Amino acid sequence: MKTNAEVTARQKDVLFPCISTFYAEPIAFARGEGSRLWDVEGTEYLDLFGGILTVSLGHAEPRVTAAVVDQVKRLVHVSTLYPIAEQVAAAERLVQISPIRSTKAKVFFTSSGSEADETALVLAKVYTKTTEIIALRHSYSGRTLVAMTNTAHAKYRALPAQVPGTVHAHAPYCYRCPYGLTYPSCELRCATDLEELIATCTTGHPAAFFAEPILGVGGFIVPPKEYFQVAVGIVRKHGGLFLCDEVQTGFGRTGDHWNGIDHYGVEPDLVAYAKGIANGFPMGATVARAEIADSFRAGSIATFGGNPVSATAALATLGVMTDENIPERSARLGAKLRGRLEEMGKKHSLIGDVRGKGLMQAIELVKDRGTKEPATEAAGAFLEACKRRRLLVGRGGLYNNTIRIAPPMLIEEAQLEHACELMDEALSEVGRQFGAA
Ligand SMILES: Cc1ncc(COP(=O)(O)O)c(C=O)c1O
Repeated sequence: MKTNAEVTARQKDVLFPCISTFYAEPIAFARGEGSRLWDVEGTEYLDLFGGILTVSLGHAEPRVTAAVVDQVKRLVHVSTLYPIAEQVAAAERLVQISPIRSTKAKVFFTSSGSEADETALVLAKVYTKTTEIIALRHSYSGRTLVAMTNTAHAKYRALPAQVPGTVHAHAPYCYRCPYGLTYPSCELRCATDLEELIATCTTGHPAAFFAEPILGVGGFIVPPKEYFQVAVGIVRKHGGLFLCDEVQTGFGRTGDHWNGIDHYGVEPDLVAYAKGIANGFPMGATVARAEIADSFRAGSIATFGGNPVSATAALATLGVMTDENIPERSARLGAKLRGRLEEMGKKHSLIGDVRGKGLMQAIELVKDRGTKEPATEAAGAFLEACKRRRLLVGRGGLYNNTIRIAPPMLIEEAQLEHACELMDEALSEVGRQFGAA
């Protein structure tokens, strides 16, 4: 298959149409190196989305590749019917990184974020012997029935909610405050409302509160700094656990810390990881307080979970992250990126909000800063304008008007600077096209 058009045409014929691709003329990639990608026609792109925050270090990172190649030559799969040394080593490293610090933690490996979330949700219900879950509007948890029920975006719900007992609290979405209030005079209404939500929409004894520290698919919505202290405090008062979804925010992505929740000074009871854990190799992991993990008595097999190849990839990825001090690097480069985006915010009226942490930054595009009407079409045009400049960025948010920027975290500073120049140019082009200043 030699052209992007040919791959796209054949994909349309054989794959489910629900697999939606970016761009009017989708790009099929053949090769990657660091933050660069080449398509099947040989055109080079700079990648600021890393396969949805999953290529956490860089494409074909040589240290990860070498470890995986060596492993593939020796042993690919045996199943969890046998202890796997690489899996045990990856689990040992993961519990050191995890935000569960005050007590022993244990790990269950799977192959995706949906499964990691699903495992955490089932385990919370088994442990608490109750079934009600409080999730957040605008959140995304995956495509299995439980995860899809948690997910609060109509477009990702193929079916009505399938799991009874799940309620959705208002999101801490300050730019579009559901109460029309402003932080900090709002006094965290979105968090304190959990008290009434529990009193009115549950039995009064929820199993757990389930939340992402930054709502990723939701458009990198960053809760205020006191949010989790207040929200988790209320849920715990009513006997519920805190399940933290670090699928997008884990592994230094948000800067300074290994986990997104570390910024909020709250220790979860269970944590779900996936995406960046193995630099692109398929892996999910659920970390739980040992007492909670030990309560799961039924048999449970994830055939591919922590398979020798994925486990080796995770261990090598975590090793490189440690050697390169990725949390510090993400904070340093993220601050530069944020500064440049804020400058663009002053220059381009299309930008309604700039938000994020570390190397997880977003700009929300609006038609009018006063009305905040989402500029969804302009966001699509911006993606195309970046593509013409050989730059890949992400897109998301409930209104699909948020540009998500989350490059491989080993991106070079000069590459990031170049990308900012290209985004600035693309914003000017799209601003002219849509009549914005
Ligand atoms: C926060 C979060 N949780 C869970 C998932 C589901 O992960 P996966 O697509 O690997 O099943 C995603 C995927 O985007 C996600 O962003």
